This record gives sequence, C-alpha cells and structure tokens, in this order.
Amino acid sequence: MSSEMKLYFSPSLASSVAERCVDRPLWQINFGELLKEVIEIDTNRDGLALADFRPTNHLSQNIAVYLSALLTPNASEDLINLGQKIVWGYAVILDTHSLVQLTNSVFKSLTLSPPLLKDVKDNFGYQCVEINFHLHVLANIAIHSIRRCDADYYEFSRQIDQFSAQLHIDGLPKCICFVFLTENYLENFELWIDVFNASTGGQQHLVIVGIGQRVHDRIIAKLNAIEFANVTIFDFTPRQKLTASGNGEDLYYLWYLKIKLIRYFVSREHDVIYSDLDSFWVKNFIHIWEQASLSDVDIAFMPSSDMPLYAVQKWGVIPCCGFFACRASGRLERFLGRWERWVEVMFDDQIGLAEMLLDAGVEWEQRNDSPDWRSVVWNSRAFHGDNIRLSLLNPSIAKRVGEPNLLTAEGVTIWHPRWNTFQQEHRNVAATLRAVAAGGSADPPSHQYGALMGLADPSSQERETLTALADRYRSDKGTAVGPAHHYTFLYDLLFADARDQSINLLEIGLAVGGPELGHSADRFAISPSVLMWLSYFSRANIFGFDITDFSHMKHPRFEFTRGDCGSTEDLQAILRMSSHFDIIIDDASHASYHQQNTFKELFKSLHPGGFYIIEDLHWQSPFFEDSLPVVPKTWEFFYDFFVDDKYLDNQLISKKFMDAVKLDTYSFNYFYDFTGQTTLPKIIVIKKEGTPAWVKSC
Ligand SMILES: C[S@@+](CC[C@H](N)C(=O)[O-])C[C@H]1O[C@@H](n2cnc3c(N)ncnc32)[C@H](O)[C@@H]1O
Repeated sequence: MSSEMKLYFSPSLASSVAERCVDRPLWQINFGELLKEVIEIDTNRDGLALADFRPTNHLSQNIAVYLSALLTPNASEDLINLGQKIVWGYAVILDTHSLVQLTNSVFKSLTLSPPLLKDVKDNFGYQCVEINFHLHVLANIAIHSIRRCDADYYEFSRQIDQFSAQLHIDGLPKCICFVFLTENYLENFELWIDVFNASTGGQQHLVIVGIGQRVHDRIIAKLNAIEFANVTIFDFTPRQKLTASGNGEDLYYLWYLKIKLIRYFVSREHDVIYSDLDSFWVKNFIHIWEQASLSDVDIAFMPSSDMPLYAVQKWGVIPCCGFFACRASGRLERFLGRWERWVEVMFDDQIGLAEMLLDAGVEWEQRNDSPDWRSVVWNSRAFHGDNIRLSLLNPSIAKRVGEPNLLTAEGVTIWHPRWNTFQQEHRNVAATLRAVAAGGSADPPSHQYGALMGLADPSSQERETLTALADRYRSDKGTAVGPAHHYTFLYDLLFADARDQSINLLEIGLAVGGPELGHSADRFAISPSVLMWLSYFSRANIFGFDITDFSHMKHPRFEFTRGDCGSTEDLQAILRMSSHFDIIIDDASHASYHQQNTFKELFKSLHPGGFYIIEDLHWQSPFFEDSLPVVPKTWEFFYDFFVDDKYLDNQLISKKFMDAVKLDTYSFNYFYDFTGQTTLPKIIVIKKEGTPAWVKSC
C-alpha cells in the first residue's frame, strides 16, 4: 500500500460512473454493463489524473475512481494497490457494510462476468478478472476477520481486556513510565533498569508488565539488588506463548499489547511514557511536558528514519514507536484506539501508525516557535472531529543514536542500538552505558571518558600520526577531508617532542560550518580537531574557544569558552581557563580583523618557546571581511613586518605593540600550500623566545 503509488484515472470516466451509481443500491447495478456504457459514450479521456483513495469520500465516488483507473492503462500491481488501499481503508474503520457492497457488487461481479472491452486495452478481460479476484478475496478476509471475533488475535485482545480489567492502578501517580518484557528480554531489562534508575534518581514511577510465568521472580530479584522500589509490577500470562524475537506475528502480539495497555492507562487519566527495553534513556525525560513548546501536544515521538520506507521517502522522517510520550485525554484515547485497529491490520505498530497518518493526509511541519516537527491529525471521520497534535521531538529534547558516546549525550539521549545485551560484543557497550547513566548529571568516571568520546588511546604503543588522526576524526587539517590542508605534516614535526608532555594547547575555531560560512553560530557540532588533539597528546590540556557552543564535549583534559574573536572581553575570558599556553592555533573565522584582534589579546599568554599559529591565510570569510573594521590583510601585515621590516598602518595593532612582539619572537616562518593547489601562503608560525615548557620538562 505505497503512498508513492502512481496510478492514473480519467476524471471524466469517473464522473460518468459516479453519475450512474449515485442514489442506487449497488447490488442493483451490473458493473460489467456499466463499464461498457461509459466507455462508449465517453470519447474525451485525455486528461488523466493521479488516483487515490479517501475514506471520507462517498463509497460510490471511491468505486468510480477505482473503475475508471481499471479502464485506464495502468499496471495490475498498481490497480491492486489502489483496491487494497480501499479495502484496508474501510477495514480499519470496521465498515463491513461498505466492504460487503464493494466486494459483492464490484469485485465479485467483475470477476465472474468481466465486460468484453477489446478497444480499451488488449488484455482488459484477463486483467479485470485477475485484479478483481484478488481484491474480492482480500475484502472477504477483511470482513471475515472483523466479524469472526473468536479469531486468534481477537481472542488475544479479549485476554488483554480481561487482564486490564483486573489491574489495580488507583495508587499510581499521574505520570508513569511503562515497559513490558518477556523472558527473552530479561538481560536487556537488567541493563535498562540500571540506566533508568540512575537517570531518574529513582524518582520516576515505573509500571512493568512481565509476560509469562518465569519473568516475575527475575524482575523482583533485579529490583531488590538495586533497591529500586518505585515500581508497580503486573504479571500477564497469555494462553499462547509469546516471544520477543520470533516471527513478525509473535512480535505483533507484543506491539498490540503495548498499544492496548497504553490506551488503558490513558483512559484512566495517566500520562504515559513508553520505552522499549532497547531504548536506553540516558537523561531524565519525565519533565517532558514542562517544555513550553509541547504545551499543546497530545503525543510526542522520537523521530526515526527506518521503516516503513515509503513513509520515510514521503516525509523524510517518521515517528519511532520505541519511545514516545502520551498526554492523557479523551481524544488521545480515541486516537490510540484507532491506532490499535491499524496494528491489527498491519501487524506492526510503527507501520500501522505511519499508515494511519498517511491515510489522514498528515504532513510534518517545522514550527516557527519551536524546533520540533509538529503535525495535527484532522481527519474528522476517523477521529470524531478531534484534533490530535503529534510532535516529532527535536534532538535537543530527545535524540536517538546508535552507540553510547559522550559527545552525543545532550538533552535527553536515547540510545537505541537494537541489540541484545547477552551478545558478547555488546557487553563493553553496556558497561559504558551504565557508566554514563551512573554519572547522571555529574561526570562519568574519568577512565571512561576516552572510550565515551570514541578517542584513540594516546598512550598506546601503536599510536597514530597526527595526520592519521586528523583523517580519522575528519579535520580538514589532514590529508583526506574537505580542502585537506596537510597542516598535520608540519604539526607532526613541530609537536613531536610535546606529545607526552603536560602542555596547554589552545585552539580558536573548532568545527567547520559556522558563521564564517554564513551558518548560524547556534548549531550543534562536534569538533574534529579537539578529538584529534586529545587522541594525539597523552597529557596535554586542550582549550577551545569558538562562537558556537562546544561545552557538550566533556573530557577531563578539555575545557571550553564560548565567545567571539571580535570581542576583547570574550578573548580575555579565555585567560580564565589558563593564563598561559604552549601552543595557540587560530583556525576561526579567518577574517583579518578577528585574526589580529586574537593575536593582540593572546600573544602575551604564549609561553616562552611556544608556537603561535594562524591558519588559512589564503582565504577570508566573505561573511565577515567587509563588515568588520578595516585592517591590512593578516598575511601582508605579518610578512611586511617580519620579513621586510615594514609596519603597515593598522588601527588595531600599533607599531609599538608589534615592536615588542618582535623582541619576544625567536622565529617567524610561513608556508605556502603543501599540496600546490594554490600559490598563496597559507599558514604562519611564530615561535616565541625562550625554552619551551616541554623541553624543560623532558
Ligand atoms: C575552520 S572552522 C574550524 C575547524 C576545526 N579547527 C577543525 O580542524 O576541524 C572555523 C570555526 O570558527 C568558528 N568561528 C567563526 N567565527 C567566529 C568568531 N567570530 N569567533 C569565534 N569563533 C568563530 C566557527 O564556529 C567554526 O567552528
């Protein structure tokens, strides 16, 4: 049932069909004759339109679109798709009356007596039988399933109803978290509850539904071991065996159970946060509804991009059903009831939801007042006129990532790695996850930091060159990424002696893609060069300064200050992190004014023997250069001063200042492009007088 289906129909044929159907009982119509009739009188069939099905249309209109598409050259597969869509559309609203009319009067009668219409298309008769037979069977199964209430999954549905009718939930708090587990998921549960307990500080009430005879004791044992008592456990023992990792049908039972129980809790006015046991919720999520941007939202999902693919192709994103939050209301209860029907038909919670939303014509829109994706389901027939508001959460509130990594642990991070913790290769990751959660809002144990940031071990015997590390972490200072400046060839030489010394390195400008390229400073970025420096130097303290916030990058040897190179005050704030640096690298906006302002404020903090490096002198940001106060180009200013002994007039840096710098300078070096791609000088290295700290401490 692809939403991308491209099926054409003739609106003029459709209106002729509709005219002949309207106000007549369908069983009185001979559709074979009707098709012949409309084909004969309708000679103007050029203007084709894309066919689709709307459950809100009158049944005769939907039949008219379907029949006129049948008369139009379309592939059988696409016609079956349209027919299926019509059948499912009525099935999910339990409209057996329309289904019976459709199948008996249209599908069945065209299967039994297809009209002879040779001039429509060669194989019309054959195609007509093929398609209508298929749809006739499908519609009958749908009718049968709806009516046959003793069918397997209706029986299961009744078991859940009986189970929930006996639940005592009067003492539960308004907001609950809900998980369910089968025996297969016990190992996952044991990790999940550790992470949950740590991230909520035990303050959030958890409702666990244990499925099957044997899980109860294991759940209790685990909860006792971690002294977790803020919990209500219900045991559900269905008559059939349910497994979590069987075929689709087994899983279907669990997904169905989940939606049904959530609807039950919502009907009892509980806000519910649901989590799969492989959705590791690392930071506390319970305050979700306090977000102003979610004040009008009924149900909030994490965005995902896996399945169903056709919905991802349409929207670019879909609601993930592994972790979502429901705010109780009557309309949400009805919405969940509708979702339940779709799960029954689609055998899958996520596909069922996507189908339901596609069917209601949902589009996701980014709201002006919030970075979330928001949508309203307005389909009045399906939802009794209720407006349900759905939100796909912005990563700053919740985001889903595959691997535990400190760099991604901001906001509420959901690690949804889809793995079972009993697999050996996942045990280390589980340990990391526990460590992050144990850190809570505080920092995780320092020995965990390197692994959490995905850093190479800088003290390893087989350590890599700076160039290899630049390429690994995707800094453009190396040989593989972006303009690949190859500066690391030079740095590998310059910094070799300092690699294991406890020096201070300051980098100004941490990740490509900021305001120097016209982008917002308020972006989320990870600095490749900081990862590179931390992996290269085993003992150095790395300091960073940038107009974008990088404070989410946590490491015991990394410190960050946010600020603008154009502001003296901001640059002075760097000195609060450290008053002295052994290496200063300016890789920020590359605007001459910024480079010189930074040099003016920071050269004095360079240790004796230290390096002051300015990168990318060949390029000035078009977004800054013209709007900032006019100064000579940095390259010309420094070259003229140090090489030609000539001071270029400069309103920012006085001759007196530069004369003092020169007295303190051991060497001034510059390098043209190492790759020969430009003929311009790209980098200057000023070495201060004196013995470097790393030489002294050797
Ligand atoms: C070329 S990128 C740095 C690349 C990084 N060092 C690497 O090797 O991957 C430039 C950085 O300068 C920052 N930046 C731009 N304008 C700035 C300003 N006025 N003050 C401070 N930082 C600025 C940007 O946010 C961006 O992170």
